[in-house]
Amino acid sequence: MRKKIIAANWKMNMLVSEAEAFLHTFMHEIGGENSVEIVIVPPFTALSRVSEILGRDQKAKLGAQNMHGEKSGAFTGEVNAAMLRELYVRYVVLGHSERRTLFGETDEIVNHKVRAAIDAALRPIVCIGETLAERDAHQVEAVLRRQIEGSLHGVNARELAEIVIAYEPVWAIGTGRTATPQQAQEAHAFIRRTLSELWDAPTAEKVRIQYGGSVKPQNAAELMRENDIDGALVGGASLDPRGFADIVKAAAAL
Ligand code: PGA
Repeated sequence: MRKKIIAANWKMNMLVSEAEAFLHTFMHEIGGENSVEIVIVPPFTALSRVSEILGRDQKAKLGAQNMHGEKSGAFTGEVNAAMLRELYVRYVVLGHSERRTLFGETDEIVNHKVRAAIDAALRPIVCIGETLAERDAHQVEAVLRRQIEGSLHGVNARELAEIVIAYEPVWAIGTGRTATPQQAQEAHAFIRRTLSELWDAPTAEKVRIQYGGSVKPQNAAELMRENDIDGALVGGASLDPRGFADIVKAAAAL
């Protein structure tokens, strides 16, 4: 059984004071819930404080939204994997479609970061997904396969089992337009089949595949009920502590 994993991608939101208030309410709401893995992914500026608040018991784990693939050097404005590890970050979101489209990240760049994250014992959450034009042109499978091959190049089976993949159709991110459970399940099943082909079936069975794109308390359960949907990467709806707690509870109730 794959443990469901729900991540809050706060993007460029949340001052430290707002993160503190969020966690206060959220932790209270989820109580002793531990059947679901929860990851809070704040902006870099709030990582340190969120890490302190989450503390050692790690009812929720800490994630980062991005990192650089090099170990150190003249990369003004960037942070490396060791800097994240120092703050007890466990997961790092890589290749989010906003990084790909707004900041020019290619599969090759994402792959470099994936390697660096694994080498530093950070678990990558690797985002893939097609645009609306690609869906309309019936290229979903080709795009997903290309992104899997490119982003995960050189990853071995043992490493793959630790990676989380987030299927995020670009047309569903921040648009309020969610993929139907059936559309999402089809894509997830294709991703798992592809992993099985490129690596092996037992490893593909272990990989958790999150869905992302306008997930909210109202649609979380129907999506995560699908066989190959192992959790959610939540943007907008993760900014509200009660709503995000409701998504976690929906996963726990399945
Ligand atoms: P959204 O974002 O939930 O606001 O659509 C999801 C994401 O970008 O990870």
